[in-house]
Amino acid sequence: MNKLTSIISTAILATAFVTVSNLPIDPVSMSSKASAEAVKKKKRHPGKRLYLRKTCLACHGKGGARSIQNYPNVSGQPEKYIAQQIKDILSGKRVGSNDENGAMRTAPMTGALITPEGKVRINDEEIKQIANYLSLQPPAKVKPLETPLSEDQIKAAQKLYKKKCRSCHGKGALKPLKNYPIIAGQNKAYIIAQVNDVKNKIRRNGKIKTMYGMVKKLTDEQIDLLASYLSQIDRSK
Ligand code: HEC
Ligand code: HEC
Repeated sequence: MNKLTSIISTAILATAFVTVSNLPIDPVSMSSKASAEAVKKKKRHPGKRLYLRKTCLACHGKGGARSIQNYPNVSGQPEKYIAQQIKDILSGKRVGSNDENGAMRTAPMTGALITPEGKVRINDEEIKQIANYLSLQPPAKVKPLETPLSEDQIKAAQKLYKKKCRSCHGKGALKPLKNYPIIAGQNKAYIIAQVNDVKNKIRRNGKIKTMYGMVKKLTDEQIDLLASYLSQIDRSK
């Protein structure tokens, strides 16, 4: 609980910080009023402002690509996928197993965005704008593994991926079916947690049911191998 409280206060602090750092840039330093306007416009995607104001930054980092702990990177995903997941998490349709602190995986996010009285601090229009903003942000950088996979392990992972995952998540995990998530380059621990939550029928929102048959027989070693492999795919290439 302590950890959660501290995450939420970090979130609040981050908003305060953002409010200050988000002040309009000084137009005097610009060569003309027009270019000052252009820069302002570019900087101020309405979704970006909301991303900062709604404290998403505290947990998902700059542009959604620098998440803290084992939280998911959310940049560069299909807009509809992002919006739907936010709604499902806030409505409780999407839940998760408990994390290493004994709190449900979605609790940090619901704790930050739902008041103690149960009021959701973000509406559908705001979700849409944030989702559009995040979908346009560059994907996260790859976080190298402590022990890189061997050539043989990569080959084994590719084979398993092709057999069990590729039909939906696409070639190289980069070209999924429409509005399905891109799983290449995602945080390894997050991938493992999600695959297990699907396998154990804990995450049951959206179209995830279609995935169940493909993961139910995977062993812990196979899930670890797939997650290691997927986490190392560089989406910027
Ligand atoms: C206090 C931390 C916290 C805050 C603040 C927060 N989130 Fe999250 N978010 C999480 C965690 C943790 C998860 C993963 C839940 C799980 O593992 O099941 C998550 C999941 C998500 C997902 C699903 C990702 C996926 O790949 O399925 C999206 C999208 C998302 N958050 C967007 C946002 C947006 C937008 C905001 C601001 C409006 C926000 N989050 C605020 C912690 C947070
Ligand atoms: C039959 C289609 C299908 C197959 C095959 C499939 N998945 Fe999925 N997967 C999905 C769908 C659909 C979602 C998103 C569900 C939603 O909209 O909530 C998903 C979500 C995920 C997520 C969560 C992504 C996130 O950002 O939260 C991970 C991780 C994942 N799949 C990994 C895998 C792996 C690994 C395999 C192979 C072992 C696999 N999937 C096979 C359909 C599939």
